[in-house]
Amino acid sequence: EMLLYKEKDLVGKNILITAGPTREDIDPVRFITNRSTGKMGYAIAKAARDRGANVTLITGPTDLTPPSFIDVVNVYSAEDMYRAVSDRFDKCDVLIMSAAVADYRPKEKSNIKIKKSDDDLKIELTRNKDILYEIKEKKSRQVVIGFAAETNDVLENATKKIKKKNLDYIIANDVSQKDSGFGTDTNTIKIIDKFGNVKDYPNMSKLDVAHTILNLLVK
Ligand code: CTP
Ligand code: CA
Repeated sequence: EMLLYKEKDLVGKNILITAGPTREDIDPVRFITNRSTGKMGYAIAKAARDRGANVTLITGPTDLTPPSFIDVVNVYSAEDMYRAVSDRFDKCDVLIMSAAVADYRPKEKSNIKIKKSDDDLKIELTRNKDILYEIKEKKSRQVVIGFAAETNDVLENATKKIKKKNLDYIIANDVSQKDSGFGTDTNTIKIIDKFGNVKDYPNMSKLDVAHTILNLLVK
């Protein structure tokens, strides 16, 4: 634990944090998901709690144990996560969307197990709602922070997202790097604000990244 951040500088702040992947069912035994493990969002939840915030963690399925003394909302699909976030957004001061929300779900979910045949199987996918894009209509006092997972043209892509989703900050990380992104214990991030200012950070533990993000709320 870093002594540097022991200060309770987020007391009274209601912080909503999303974490992990979502699962989009194909049938009762199969689903589509992504490589998110939830480590980044859980680290933010822990750091925010330690700094005195009231933390609600909305989490997709992960293997992690949530930090104690916070509210935990378990969700499964992107649709569940959308509902969980919109139900709680009005009452929060800060939303940090570190979840890797599935962009698509199978257009039809089979209630019985799909049997194999000799033919190819085609699964049609349909778009999920973009939670941040939808929530921007409800934004009043809230500080909204998104993440951008990119494999290429990191700055360009992340900057587009901050505009499209009307974010205050976006945390861009290059998930093609070995020490950054899905499943790793460290992250190399750039923080971009709504004015286009970019700050580069060295590779840090996810807990240090979490504190760096939370520092945006106290300056
Ligand atoms: N996000 C969201 N709802 C979705 C998909 C993404 O709120 N249905 C949020 C993520 O939690 C993240 C931000 O939007 O904070 C950017 O997610 P990302 O996947 O990087 O960008 P997309 O806008 O989905 O675009 P693409 O995947 O095509 O790069
Ligand atoms: Ca996406």
